[in-house]
Amino acid sequence: MMNQDIDFDEYCDPNNPRKIKYDDILAASRRIVGGVVRTPCSKAHMSDKLGMEVFLKQEFLQYTGCFKERGVRNTLMLLSDEQKKYGVISATTGNHGIAMGHHANVMSIPCVVVMPITTAMNKVSKCERTGAKVLLHGANINEAKSHAMGIRSEKRMTYINGYDHPNIMEGQGTVGIEIIEQVPGVDAVLVPVGGGSLLAGVAVAIKHLKPDTEIYGIETDKTCSMVESLRKNERVMMEIGSTIADGLAVGMVGVNSFHNTKGLVDKMIVVKEDWVARAIMHLVEDEKFIVEGAGATTYASVMAGLFPNLKGKKVVCILSGGNIDSTILARALERGMSAEGRLVKFKVTVHDRPGGMAELCALLANMGITLRDLVPERAWVKADVFSVQLKIIAETRGWDHLKELVEQIKKHYKEYFFQDMGDRSDKAPTTRRGPCLAPNPVCMQK
Ligand SMILES: Cc1ncc(COP(=O)(O)O)c(C=O)c1O
Repeated sequence: MMNQDIDFDEYCDPNNPRKIKYDDILAASRRIVGGVVRTPCSKAHMSDKLGMEVFLKQEFLQYTGCFKERGVRNTLMLLSDEQKKYGVISATTGNHGIAMGHHANVMSIPCVVVMPITTAMNKVSKCERTGAKVLLHGANINEAKSHAMGIRSEKRMTYINGYDHPNIMEGQGTVGIEIIEQVPGVDAVLVPVGGGSLLAGVAVAIKHLKPDTEIYGIETDKTCSMVESLRKNERVMMEIGSTIADGLAVGMVGVNSFHNTKGLVDKMIVVKEDWVARAIMHLVEDEKFIVEGAGATTYASVMAGLFPNLKGKKVVCILSGGNIDSTILARALERGMSAEGRLVKFKVTVHDRPGGMAELCALLANMGITLRDLVPERAWVKADVFSVQLKIIAETRGWDHLKELVEQIKKHYKEYFFQDMGDRSDKAPTTRRGPCLAPNPVCMQK
């Protein structure tokens, strides 16, 4: 009997969740050969510093910049001729739509992608360039989905849920098979979690091939839908605000993804978004990789020191995507630098006579500190009229260098204020140092 609910998706039915099987993931891996990239999984340059053998699975090297191609390619290849003729439709905040647009175009399948109006601009234009028909609709993914479902029924298209369709999960699981082949003896795999298809697919594949491998799902403190769902043992709807990891911004994890994940994941880990910015910066600097927020969460969790149990072990971080907006990348780099004491903001009051400002500039220059910005303030200062307060943004080499700067400023000037250090503080700026900037993360046992 036809289900009357316009939003009903027979592949993702809460009353009939579907389990995926390893054999189907294996079949998917053979099916998609040649259509998607078998990405490298290389040892991170920072392994020694991180105290473990960290391997980076470089899914941002897929043609459209994300692992999502795997599930899409698999699903499109399994469509009937009739389904291919009427075409496919999906609601997505980005990477799934870009992947679907690209592969549908390659396979000459009509494709419509509905994106919420809040979708990152780089993802909207990238999706349009694939040849897909892109519709911007709704304030969030749920509204976009309802709209897509209406079009599906009207145009007889097939709706492909990007994080829950069983063939999508099987395609994503091929990442797990490759990891086992590429990193013999792997101890743990860290997987970013949005709707949950990557986690479900990878967990099913890896627990079949090497059951003693630990699987960790990673979310940020602003995208905790899987953590909360596993905690309550049912899917819960979470309010998701703006996040640096927009690929993980899914309010409710998928029916099938949740069903397949339960019992297979060893622990869910939540990493603070500050650390994600730092990870993006370090992946650029240390590895020369451009990775988006969602994709950098795994590396961020290692950098944040959230895995003391994995010291000396072989750990794979899935770097799931690289579609980061240039503006966001620039902001992430700045945040990362400030979180590591390399970008500093301070105020100092100097003589407002010839040479007063020059003296300060010379002091900074002699210390090898780069002056980024200098704004003089004369009207609202407490000091005498022959003084000027300078608001400064400068670049240092890190905490030790910043500490030297504080010492020098203290030595030469009476009035100064360093951001985050209190007024005229004697404190060395170590409060923002150390392995974990954020309070202890939420960790969840199986
Ligand atoms: C870059 C990136 N990483 C991770 C994810 C999360 O994948 P899933 O929704 O399968 O959990 C997404 C989802 O769009 C993504 O775009």
